[in-house]
Amino acid sequence: MTKPLRKAVLPVAGLGTRFLPATKATAKEMLPVVDKPLIQYAIEEARAAGIEQFCMVTGRGKTALVEHFDVAYELERTLKERNKSEALEALKATQVEPGSIVTVRQQVPLGLGHAIWCARAFIGDDPFAILLPDDLVLSETPCLRQLADAYRDTGGNVVAVTEVPREQTNRYGILRIGKDDGRLVEVTGLVEKPEPKDAPSNLSIIGRYVLMPEVIGHLSKMERGAGNEVQLTDGMAKLIGNQPFYGLRYEGRRFDCGDKVGFLEAQIAFALKRPDLADAVRGFLKTYV
Ligand code: UTP
Repeated sequence: MTKPLRKAVLPVAGLGTRFLPATKATAKEMLPVVDKPLIQYAIEEARAAGIEQFCMVTGRGKTALVEHFDVAYELERTLKERNKSEALEALKATQVEPGSIVTVRQQVPLGLGHAIWCARAFIGDDPFAILLPDDLVLSETPCLRQLADAYRDTGGNVVAVTEVPREQTNRYGILRIGKDDGRLVEVTGLVEKPEPKDAPSNLSIIGRYVLMPEVIGHLSKMERGAGNEVQLTDGMAKLIGNQPFYGLRYEGRRFDCGDKVGFLEAQIAFALKRPDLADAVRGFLKTYV
């Protein structure tokens, strides 16, 4: 019997340098795709996968991320007085179970591995999910739901993976793979940002993980990896051989919203899925391309 997956860590303490100046005084994860901030997509996806407890790893200037899931009394009262029922409805999706979101602070952004280690008290002895809110996935079944199902079947670590062009392996965590049934691949090794000539495959990890708590022990050694950061990939690599470790080729399309082009593409893709916007967007796109 695998332990149920109920916890998720959302690391949001990065500097978001690729989006300056937009991210000077606001968090990257508050940037909206259409009309919803990235963090809300992540929380909604996690809830759809059965997650009940959330830990945001925050840093300086990130308070709006917490505020977003609070009750906005004055705003709600004003909307009620003005009979703005649609706007009130939109706010409903930001309501979460009281006490279900906790935050921990990563005072200095020393890397994703360090951010996860900062959530160690929240994780305890339980399996946990990680969602990087700047990776957005458009899919039939929410991406984390797919991972949670694979975790239930395999009882170990599962990361979402996708093929990337060879020349881009130095941007991602890359898998060395064993058995491969076309959907689920056995992970025999992990390398963070290898040069194309050194990359063991072109299967890269995206920002969705289900991990076992033992990864914290490896991260606590604070070994610096690529970019002189404490890399989650290096901590995960140490689990291989001791625990099941799989990559899941998820169904869906990923948008790297930490990157300008990926972010712009997400706006179009998500807007085209919206019945209230699709026609208008299709119409104006024709005038540009
Ligand atoms: P990124 O690699 O996208 O870094 O982090 P970043 O700082 O957010 O953005 P750029 O590269 O400067 O533009 C991936 C995820 O890990 C979190 C980020 O918030 C993001 O969700 N992260 C990264 C941390 O929480 N702490 C860190 O020390 C590093």
